Amino acid sequence: MTFAHLAASAGYTMPAFWRILTKSGYFVGLSGTIGATVTYAAAVRPALRTAAGDRGDVEVLRSRTAKYLAWAGVVLLVTGYLQLAARLARAGHGMPFGDALAPRRLWDFLRAPAAKGAWIAQGTIYLVQNTVLLLTSAALIALLLPRVRRHLNALAPVALASSLAVTLVAAIPATAPRTTEQLIDLIIDQVHIISGTVWIGGLALLAVLAGTCRQLSADAGVLWADVWRRFSLVALVCVGAVIGSGLWMGWRHVGGLGQLWTTGYGLALLVKLLLVLGMVAAGGVNQFWLMPRIARARRADATASLLHLTLRHFPAVVWAEVALGAAVLAVLPFLTGSARSQAGSPPAVASGTVFAAGAALVLTLAASLCITVRISDALSRARA
Ligand code: HEM
Repeated sequence: MTFAHLAASAGYTMPAFWRILTKSGYFVGLSGTIGATVTYAAAVRPALRTAAGDRGDVEVLRSRTAKYLAWAGVVLLVTGYLQLAARLARAGHGMPFGDALAPRRLWDFLRAPAAKGAWIAQGTIYLVQNTVLLLTSAALIALLLPRVRRHLNALAPVALASSLAVTLVAAIPATAPRTTEQLIDLIIDQVHIISGTVWIGGLALLAVLAGTCRQLSADAGVLWADVWRRFSLVALVCVGAVIGSGLWMGWRHVGGLGQLWTTGYGLALLVKLLLVLGMVAAGGVNQFWLMPRIARARRADATASLLHLTLRHFPAVVWAEVALGAAVLAVLPFLTGSARSQAGSPPAVASGTVFAAGAALVLTLAASLCITVRISDALSRARA
C-alpha cells in the first residue's frame, strides 16, 4: 500500500507544495537563529573564553560565527515572510498562496479585527511576532558589517532572546484554552519546537564552524574538544526534551501503534521517528566512541590525533546528523490532521494515569541521559 493510496483511503490531506516549503522553511529559519545563538552562548563562547591556545583560532571562530548568524538572519527574514503569507493563505478565505504574498494583503491580514470570543485579534499576535522577527533578522544581518561583528558577544544574547520570542509569541492563543490538555499542548509544543531547533540548529552551526579547520592552528584540537564536550550536554538535554514532548504530542494524535502504518499521519510520523532514531544513533557514536577517544588524546597530549578526532571524525558524524535533521524538518508538513481521526478512533483524553505514566517516562528519560553521561565519562577515563 503506497503512501498516496494510504493518504487517499484514510481522509488524509496531502499538503500543497507551498505548504511544505513554508512550514519546513520556517523551522529551518528558527533552527538557524535559535539553534546557533543558544549553541554560541552555551558551548562556543565559553570554550573561546577559556581557550589557552592560539588567539588566532579564537578570532577565526568568532568571525565565522558572526557571518553564520548574519546569514541565519537573512534566512529567518525570507522564511518568516513566506510563513506569514502561508498563514494568510490558510486563513480560510480561499486565497491562493501567490496572492497572499502581496504586502498589501498581508498588512490587511495583520490589521484584521478580533474574531468573536477572542481576547485579542489573531492578526495583532502575528503583527507582534513578525515585528520581533524583523528586528531579530535586522540585528543579525548587521553582523555582515565588520564594525558590528566586534559586538558579537553583546548582540548574540539579544538575538537569542528575540528569536525565542518569535516562536513563543506565535503560540499565544487568541482565544483562551478551554481544557487542561489544550494548555498543556501549547506549552509542550513550544518545548518541542525550541529543543528540536536548538538540537538541529546547534549541530549545523558547529558543522560549519568546523569547516574553518584549515585556518586553525595545530593546537585547535584542545579548543574543539571543549566545544564538543559542552555541546554534547546541550544536545543531551534537547534529546530528552524533544522525545518527552514528542511522546505527549504523539499520544495526542496517534491512538495506537498500528495507526503508525495504517494512516497517512502515522506514516509521516513513523518516517520522522526513524530519522530521529538515526540522529540519536549518530549522537551515540559521538558520546560513546569519539568523546572517550578525544578525552584520552587530550590526556596524552596527542595534538595530531586530537585535531583529527575533533576536526575530521566528529564533524563527519555531525554532518550526517544535520542531514537527518534537515530531513526531519522536511517531513513535518506531512503531519497534517491526526491519525486518531483518520483511523476513526476517539480523541485522547488526559487522566491521572496518563499524567503518572508521563511523569514516569520523563524520569526514565532523565535517568537514561544521566547514565549516558556517566558511561561516556567512564569510557574517557578508561585506559586504552
Ligand atoms: C530532531 C528531532 C525533532 C525535531 C526537530 C522536531 C520538530 C518538530 C516541529 C518543529 C514540529 C511542529 C510543531 C508545530 O507545528 O507546532 C513537530 C511536530 C511534531 N513532533 Fe516533532 N520533532 C522532533 C522529534 C520528535 C519525536 C522524537 C517525536 C515523537 C516521539 C515527535 C513527535 C511530533 C508530533 C506528534 C508532532 C505533530 C504535532 C501536530 O500534529 O501538531 N517529534 N516536531
